[in-house]
Amino acid sequence: MPASQPFTFTRPLLVAHRGFRANYPENTMIAFKAGVDAGAQMVELDVHMTRDRELVVIHDDTLDRTTDGKGRVDEHTLSELKKMDAGHWFHPRFAGERIPTLREVLRELSRRALINIEIKSDYGQPRVSSEIEEGVLDLLKREDAFAAVLISSFDPRIIENTKRLNASLPVAFISKSTEGKKTVDFCRGLDVFSFHPNFLSLDKELVKQMHAAGIQVFPYNVNSEPEFQRLIETGADGLITDEPLLFKNWYSRLRATEKTN
Ligand code: G3P
Ligand code: CA
Repeated sequence: MPASQPFTFTRPLLVAHRGFRANYPENTMIAFKAGVDAGAQMVELDVHMTRDRELVVIHDDTLDRTTDGKGRVDEHTLSELKKMDAGHWFHPRFAGERIPTLREVLRELSRRALINIEIKSDYGQPRVSSEIEEGVLDLLKREDAFAAVLISSFDPRIIENTKRLNASLPVAFISKSTEGKKTVDFCRGLDVFSFHPNFLSLDKELVKQMHAAGIQVFPYNVNSEPEFQRLIETGADGLITDEPLLFKNWYSRLRATEKTN
């Protein structure tokens, strides 16, 4: 079993991807609150560092797609980012939404929801420092938020850094593809709490092998009822979705049908 002693959760764990991404501007406070209100036990978010070393919640390493700003996140200060609009691009009614800091999200949500913090890597560049991991862990300590958090990354170096800094913090490896036992062994070597595969690459056998290794499985991004059905049938412990309300309602109907049969 992994060494970490993580949060408790009810199966299936419903994770709202970048908040309630289907209906709200991703990675904004309104999207996170809507995800929790829709019934998600956990919200997933993405973290980058600004030029002045603040941790901000945004998916891309550039501002262009999800704000009215331009250029790289790490070439702007927090005060410059806070002037940008992070909601209007999605719909004019969300004009005025800002890029949240990780601190703001922890303060707002860590007492009422679990938080999956995905630390983005520098996309193929040699990773010279663990500054973001250190910043995240320092913030978790200052905000007393360890109990609510799962750290994830596509980049195994980020997972290793996080484990080195705090061996008991639950971590997750995210992967676009899977290779059976090789993937299980890799996850075991990283001492992860959970594995987050692209949902298309997950099957029953892999879930069984992960469970035998003591690893939970939360596929991403599962966004339709037929996909919910297939993924739940694999035995996955939960799922990451842009559509938390659709899942919540589908699962309630499933349970009601099971009870009457
Ligand atoms: O954690 C799963 C998912 O968030 C990873 O992909 O690109 O949405 O960050 P992405
Ligand atoms: Ca993510």
